[in-house]
Amino acid sequence: MLLYGFKSVIFCVILDEKYIKGVKVIMNFETDILSIFDKKWALLTAGDKDSFNTMTVSWGGMGTIWGKPVATVYVRTSRYTHEFMDREGYFTVSFYPEEYKKTLGVLGSKSGRDMDKMNDSGLTAKEAAGTMTFEEAEVTLMCRKLFMQRLDPSNIIDKDVCKFYENDAPHDMYIGEIIDIIKKPVNKANFDDPHNELFVEEP
Ligand SMILES: Cc1cc2nc3c(=O)[nH]c(=O)nc-3n(C[C@H](O)[C@H](O)[C@H](O)COP(=O)(O)O)c2cc1C
Repeated sequence: MLLYGFKSVIFCVILDEKYIKGVKVIMNFETDILSIFDKKWALLTAGDKDSFNTMTVSWGGMGTIWGKPVATVYVRTSRYTHEFMDREGYFTVSFYPEEYKKTLGVLGSKSGRDMDKMNDSGLTAKEAAGTMTFEEAEVTLMCRKLFMQRLDPSNIIDKDVCKFYENDAPHDMYIGEIIDIIKKPVNKANFDDPHNELFVEEP
C-alpha cells in the first residue's frame, strides 16, 4: 500500500494483516521507503548463531513482487557476507538508532574475514527464527530468500552506472520475502529524537 505523508511527499510502505493475506506479519511498519536505506543504512545479516556474518548496506528496497511483501538487497560478490547470502535460506535486514551510525560505519568498512564481527562490533547478537539480528535494532525484517540474480554490467542502460563496476566486483541482487517484522517498542525519548522520524508508533 502506498500512502502520501503530510509534511512532504513521503511514500510509506505499510505491511499489515489486511494487506498480506495469509501471511503472518505481527507488526505494522511505516517508513519512507525512498530514503530509509540511503539515510539510515541497515545491517544485512545471514547465518546462524554458530556462524554468521553481517555488513552495512545502504542500497536496497521494499515492495511487492509475486504477491508477496519483499525486501531487496544488493551485495557485491567480493563481500564475505555474500558467501552467507548464497548458502543460507534466510537473512535479516535491521535498522538502528542514530547513535549506532559509527558502529555501522565500522561494519561497513571492515570485513568479517579480518574482524570478529560477532564479538567486536559492540552489538549484541540474537537469534531470530534460525537466523540472526541484534538486540539494538529498532526494526528487523526477517526475510526468506526467494530469488537472486547477478546485476550483469552488460545490461546497464545508463552509462553513468558503469563506474560502479570499473574497479569493483558485480552486485548480486537478493529478493527476500518479509515473513516477519521484529520491532522494538518506541519509547518517548526515541520518538522525540529528530533522527528517528522515519519510525512511527503503531496505531
Ligand atoms: C554506508 C555503507 C553502505 C554500504 N552498502 C553496501 C551495499 O549496499 N552493498 C554492498 O555490497 N556493500 C555495501 N557496503 C560495503 C560493505 O558493508 C563492506 O564492504 C563490508 O566491509 C563488507 O563486510 P564483509 O566482507 O564482512 O561482508 C556499504 C558500506 C557502507 C559504509
